[in-house]
Amino acid sequence: MSYIVFARKWRPKDFDSVLGQEHVTTTLKNAIAQNRVAHAYIFSGPRGVGKTTTARIFAMALNCKSGPAKEPCGTCDSCKEISNGTNLDVIEIDGASNRGIDEVRALRENIKFAPTRGKYKVYIIDEVHMLTEEAFNALLKTLEEPPAHAIFIFATTRPYKVPSTILSRCQRFDFKRLTVNEITGKLREIVKSEKLEIEEEALYTIARAAEGAMRDAESMLDQLVSFCGKKIDAESATAISGTVGHEVLFDFTEKVINKDTAGILKLVDGVIAGGKDIPQFVNSLVVHFRNILIARASDEPEGLIDLPQEMIGRLAVQAKSFSNETLLYILTVLMGAQDSVRRAISQRIPLELAAIRLTRRDDLVSLTSILDRIEQLEKKLGSGAAKPFDSAQGKPEPKAAPQPQHKDENISEPPKDAAKKEHFDVEVEIDASGLSFERICEVWPNLLREILSKRMSLALFLQPGQPLKLEDSVLTIGFSKEHTFHKEALETSGNRKLIETALSGILKHDVRVDMKVVEALEKKVSVEDLLLEERQEETHEVVKSALEIFGGNIRIPLK
Ligand SMILES: Nc1ncnc2c1ncn2[C@@H]1O[C@H](COP(=O)(O)OP(=O)(O)OP(=O)(O)O)[C@@H](O)[C@H]1O
Ligand SMILES: [Mg+2]
Ligand SMILES: [Zn+2]
Repeated sequence: MSYIVFARKWRPKDFDSVLGQEHVTTTLKNAIAQNRVAHAYIFSGPRGVGKTTTARIFAMALNCKSGPAKEPCGTCDSCKEISNGTNLDVIEIDGASNRGIDEVRALRENIKFAPTRGKYKVYIIDEVHMLTEEAFNALLKTLEEPPAHAIFIFATTRPYKVPSTILSRCQRFDFKRLTVNEITGKLREIVKSEKLEIEEEALYTIARAAEGAMRDAESMLDQLVSFCGKKIDAESATAISGTVGHEVLFDFTEKVINKDTAGILKLVDGVIAGGKDIPQFVNSLVVHFRNILIARASDEPEGLIDLPQEMIGRLAVQAKSFSNETLLYILTVLMGAQDSVRRAISQRIPLELAAIRLTRRDDLVSLTSILDRIEQLEKKLGSGAAKPFDSAQGKPEPKAAPQPQHKDENISEPPKDAAKKEHFDVEVEIDASGLSFERICEVWPNLLREILSKRMSLALFLQPGQPLKLEDSVLTIGFSKEHTFHKEALETSGNRKLIETALSGILKHDVRVDMKVVEALEKKVSVEDLLLEERQEETHEVVKSALEIFGGNIRIPLK
């Protein structure tokens, strides 16, 4: 006898052997028992979970010699023929390859004739969503007035692509992915009767890699037998499962959570040593973190994540360790790596650098909230000082500083009068054009940021400075004595011009700047101090790790 693949050999022959779809099989059995069989059904669900199998069993049960019966006998001619696919009353049409109107027309012609042997003519249309619109319309006519002996079973992996006019005429059954336990259960059964030996871990590796599809699990087992013979070990199972297993992805994430750089590099090394495809690994990581993001953001992630329920649960657990910002950051880094991995000569390096960046990431949330807080504080300081003057001019009161958005961080705001004390004494004036010193204080962080993006060194020089006063559109920036060098560097015409341009751009008003060294300058907390420190730290860490991994020296290009 010729060799039959496990997936076919082990195809269930009655309802009770269909695993994990009891909600479907019970209903179908009851429909038969109560003589309430509908004319059209739609079986939707992922691939390899038993849709076609169940459709055939249903057809067998309906046309069984002793039927319609709750379970087919499996031994009568009709049952045998249906199970072999040679019964003339059970017509299987593959929607993917027969997309056209002609097939549906042929079907409509053919459907009129009574069944040859059984009581019903059963049309199983697989991948029904692939039919053309014209074919759907023709089908719809048949569905509106089907002959009494006709039963349609539409199977689809994409129910949302089936027109609602069709859906509304069908009883719909949603097939589920099988659980890891259901899969290992059946694999054990096969292993036993095929007289194989398999390590428990291998069983689970296969079951997990199958992602809920029994057919995939059976095919993997088949492959493993060809690969290892009758004794199957865990290592071979991992190798056969091709892409990295989900365990690796969960593991990787765990290391990102724990900021375990050494661990993650070891993991990456293991993946590469295992001969896995690097671009594919990076893609899997992107998908994994995308799934974590969805698990975090959605109340019903099931429809959006193409994974078994248990795994979605595990994703949701991991999701708790991240903020949305951090996840977006991680995805940005990984997608960057996706790009560079494709272009790099050594694919390993961008992957490792990404892994390092992910484990040495800043705590982005708290940084954002610190920035927010400080900006708010600065606004308050600025507006606080300007207030009396503003009122005198009959101007509207400056807006109250909005509440910081991030409530979860634990940086406490300094008490009100402390904030006042921190504010240096300045003259507050409103320029003839309505440009206020207050406004400049408000946009000061923006100015620093703008300059930071244009020329980092300039921002570093400007950072210790502070707006002192505004007079005739000339802003005086004060520096303490120790920053005289900074002040002088900024005074070169090119630099001054750059600051003026940036500031004028932000204020939409021409402003010139003047630098001045003052005796005592109370230091405001600078947003950019933090930002810069944070950035230097990061660069530093990445460079350090890169050196650790790749060896070599730092060479700073002189430009
Ligand atoms: N629920 C299940 N219980 C037991 N075995 C199953 C189940 N689902 C699938 N199988 C196994 O997988 C094989 C393929 O199943 P089937 O053809 O029914 O899947 P399907 O859902 O129609 O997939 P596709 O969408 O790819 O057509 C079966 O022959 C059987 O061995
Ligand atoms: Mg099928
Ligand atoms: Zn039978």
